[in-house]
Amino acid sequence: MTSDVAERGTGDDKPLPQGVELTPLDEHFREDPYAVLKGIQQRTRVLEDAVLKRFIYTDHDDVKEILRDRDFWSDPRKANPGTFTRQFLGRGQAEDEEPSMLLMDEPGHRRLRSLVSASFTPAAVEKWRGRARAVVERVLDGIDGEEFDLIGQFAGPVPTVVIAELLGIDAAMHADFKRWSDLSVKVGFNPFATDEEHEAGEQARVSLEQFFREEIARRRENPGTDLISDMIRAEEGGDKLTAEEMVRQCNLLLVAGNVTTTDLIGNGVKALLDHPEQWALLRERPELIKNAVEEMLRFDSPVVNSGRIANRDIEIGGCPVHKGESLNTSLAAANRDPKVYPEPDKFDITRDDTHHQSFGGGRHLCLGAHLARVEAQEAILGLMSRFPNLAPGKKGHTYHAIPSFRGMSQFWVRA
Ligand code: HEM
Repeated sequence: MTSDVAERGTGDDKPLPQGVELTPLDEHFREDPYAVLKGIQQRTRVLEDAVLKRFIYTDHDDVKEILRDRDFWSDPRKANPGTFTRQFLGRGQAEDEEPSMLLMDEPGHRRLRSLVSASFTPAAVEKWRGRARAVVERVLDGIDGEEFDLIGQFAGPVPTVVIAELLGIDAAMHADFKRWSDLSVKVGFNPFATDEEHEAGEQARVSLEQFFREEIARRRENPGTDLISDMIRAEEGGDKLTAEEMVRQCNLLLVAGNVTTTDLIGNGVKALLDHPEQWALLRERPELIKNAVEEMLRFDSPVVNSGRIANRDIEIGGCPVHKGESLNTSLAAANRDPKVYPEPDKFDITRDDTHHQSFGGGRHLCLGAHLARVEAQEAILGLMSRFPNLAPGKKGHTYHAIPSFRGMSQFWVRA
């Protein structure tokens, strides 16, 4: 395999990055993953990461094909021992423990997804737009000062409060809620997390799950119009979610939806401020917001990679892979593949090729995609109308170092 891959090189002898160099734990990658990914894309279609034991795909069409293959697996227990998926995504998972929907295979995945998907259709989510707008206004009301941290004071709170409200959670719990979900993401997706960090992540997960158990019990007594009550009511062909399935589901919604949407708002505002003519254009033509958010997703995706496990020996991108191996799809590289996007590095909210791989695809296509879109559209329009002259602040920005994710831990802006 390695020799096949090497043959695809362009003659440049510099070794291609491996392991940590392909994650934001590496400063180079953290600051500009696109430069690193472009370097790979130009030299090879498939990169074997011998350190983390995975094959990395950067070609748009390969990525699309892998994510949409309905036979590939996601359950880490099916991956070969020692591979990325088995070793890191399955870390801490007992052999008899069902993974969350994200890492579950058929038929369990279809069953779970069909029981909750009605709450996430575009039509269902549109009904939440007004509430998302009200949350944005409330969070904006709390901002004061000439210079403020867009992440800490705006992009962080908005998704947490929206999801908490969707789930019908009391406002007093929102801060705990955010702390637990941030910790779960930080540890859960980090292949280099230490045992101590893992322990902290586990504790956060246990606290969150205990909290959800109590909320579910309360909602059984007193159903409302929130998502937990919807899950209790959800029934497909006489089938219902068990309490433990609902707990896992709530947990996944938080973990999958919080940091990602914060990063979309943060990265999106940064792209606009880095291109002031685009900020001015959106101010002038707010009806461009839907296209603008798609372009933000393409240009600087909050999730930079996803993946599958090969369920058979197969050739992808001209290279053979074996059953049980980890196929890692670089969404960030696919979204800037020059074969598909003319001028891929240009941020342009009017471009008509804003289609992207940022929500994955196939069976595991992001369930919260419409919710994330609505939140980001409302957040960015709300921010823009409150602070029409927003500009980068003096204290700068810092990218966070969460593998598989791309976003900032702080981003100072001037009102
Ligand atoms: C900008 C924000 C978001 C991005 C970029 C994002 C991205 C993704 C990606 C890449 C996947 C994996 C898809 C695949 O491998 O094919 C995924 C799955 C998922 N996401 Fe999102 N997500 C976002 C927001 C949300 C929100 C707000 C929620 C829910 C409240 C959510 C819930 C889920 C769930 C439940 C899955 C698993 C779906 C399945 O396995 O069937 N996501 N997301």
